[in-house]
Amino acid sequence: MEDDTDPTGDAETEPGDDGGRIPVLLVRDDREFLIEPGEEMGTDLGVLDVPDDVESGDTIPTHLGEAFTVRRLRGPDLFHHFERTGAPMVPRDIGLVIGETGIARGDRVLDAGTGTGVLAASMARAGASVVTYERDPDFADVARTNMALGGVTEDVDVRTGDVREEIETLEPSSFDVLTLDTGDAASIVSHAPDLLVEGGFVAVYSPFIESTRAVVEAAREVELSNVRTRETIQREMQFDDRGSRPSTAPVGHTGYLTIARNV
Ligand SMILES: C[S@@+](CC[C@H](N)C(=O)[O-])C[C@H]1O[C@@H](n2cnc3c(N)ncnc32)[C@H](O)[C@@H]1O
Repeated sequence: MEDDTDPTGDAETEPGDDGGRIPVLLVRDDREFLIEPGEEMGTDLGVLDVPDDVESGDTIPTHLGEAFTVRRLRGPDLFHHFERTGAPMVPRDIGLVIGETGIARGDRVLDAGTGTGVLAASMARAGASVVTYERDPDFADVARTNMALGGVTEDVDVRTGDVREEIETLEPSSFDVLTLDTGDAASIVSHAPDLLVEGGFVAVYSPFIESTRAVVEAAREVELSNVRTRETIQREMQFDDRGSRPSTAPVGHTGYLTIARNV
């Protein structure tokens, strides 16, 4: 497992267990490029040649002398830089999933569907070991590339397949947390008591009320505990010369998060 928690920031240039290197961000004003140490990249400001031993805070000029700053990739950057397939979960909702389930180092998580893989990668970066299923083979391939970009290849096992068909092959009580972001989540929730350890959590994210209701009913049916759903919604605040108030931009609904526990 790549140690991506090194407070010195030096770990980002170390080869990963798979022989790859963890990419870094090259930033200048509103331009951001994700690039591996040792690689070259053409930009509209010239060619960036990133040395093998690049470190956070370094300044790298393009061949035209335009300076970029090196920044270590952090969780919210995954949302902006991963190649997108299935709608990725926004950082705020990832925070809710991790906060509500307590995902931490050493946890084993079963996740579906992988989609872009932002949630799976974020949980791995928090220390979990993740098995994630994606039924679209092309999406699964993109997700594997994204895991490499996020430096979590060793911690996220992206499996191609429909999780509903694979459940019987999974070891009973072998997961601490089950995270679902699929329209058919209700039929998977029914298996949660078999898949989860005692005290394990289920987190289901859905943009729609209908599928959320089906999830809640399925969770109650198999007698998961403390089943609760919250709409994930936040008001942004505006601070300007005239005063301070909630933003007049529309309040953004992203989805419903249902949490339940196997006790
Ligand atoms: C909304 S995306 C998931 C996004 C992901 N949570 C992220 O943060 O990037 C949903 C994905 O689930 C996949 N999917 C839907 N039902 C599935 C199933 N039963 N088994 C595996 N994958 C499934 C879809 O193909 C889609 O890519």
